[in-house]
Amino acid sequence: MDKDIECILFTSEQIDEMVKSLAKRVDEDYKDKDLVLIGLLKGSFIFMADLTKSIKSKCKVDFIDVSSYGAGTESTGRINIIKDLSDPIENKDVLIVEDIIDSGNTLSFMMDYFKAKKARSVEICTLFNKPSRREKDVYVKYIGADIEDYFIVGYGLDYAEYYRNLPYVGILKPSVYS
Ligand code: IMP
Ligand code: MG
Repeated sequence: MDKDIECILFTSEQIDEMVKSLAKRVDEDYKDKDLVLIGLLKGSFIFMADLTKSIKSKCKVDFIDVSSYGAGTESTGRINIIKDLSDPIENKDVLIVEDIIDSGNTLSFMMDYFKAKKARSVEICTLFNKPSRREKDVYVKYIGADIEDYFIVGYGLDYAEYYRNLPYVGILKPSVYS
């Protein structure tokens, strides 16, 4: 697997630091709130686990699975719900936990979806952000790191469902997908 990686962008130690500092900010902001962390499957599953362990505030955890990508590296723009939430979120303070925001199509859809389900507040916590690729304007309160327009894998992020188990985040060699 390592041979498919061009270079490492974030080591597992660096990711650890990023996750802890995000959790600290969330704890400060959600002291008197009714927090529900909602992980977007599957990409966020490792980040979601680590972030949740570092958050000290009382909270619930839920997952939703949506897809906008086929097997390629470009968003299709159409969002399908594959697995919905398990519990209602009416009057809850929702924090969406996402691996990476690219075009913004997924998160812009999720924001509207959770607001329509009458959440009291909806914010976004993403580990990575690709600002240069944005198509939809969406406010992201918590960002681990901004990155250039690379296709990255590892720490939950995949290419065609592979590489999620890499403990670091790296740039995939273009030869793998071209
Ligand atoms: P968006 O709707 O274009 O913002 O796409 C967001 C989703 O695309 C993320 O949840 C990821 O699953 C996927 N994605 C975007 N960029 C990358 C990447 O560089 N590596 C792996 N997955 C990515
Ligand atoms: Mg995703």
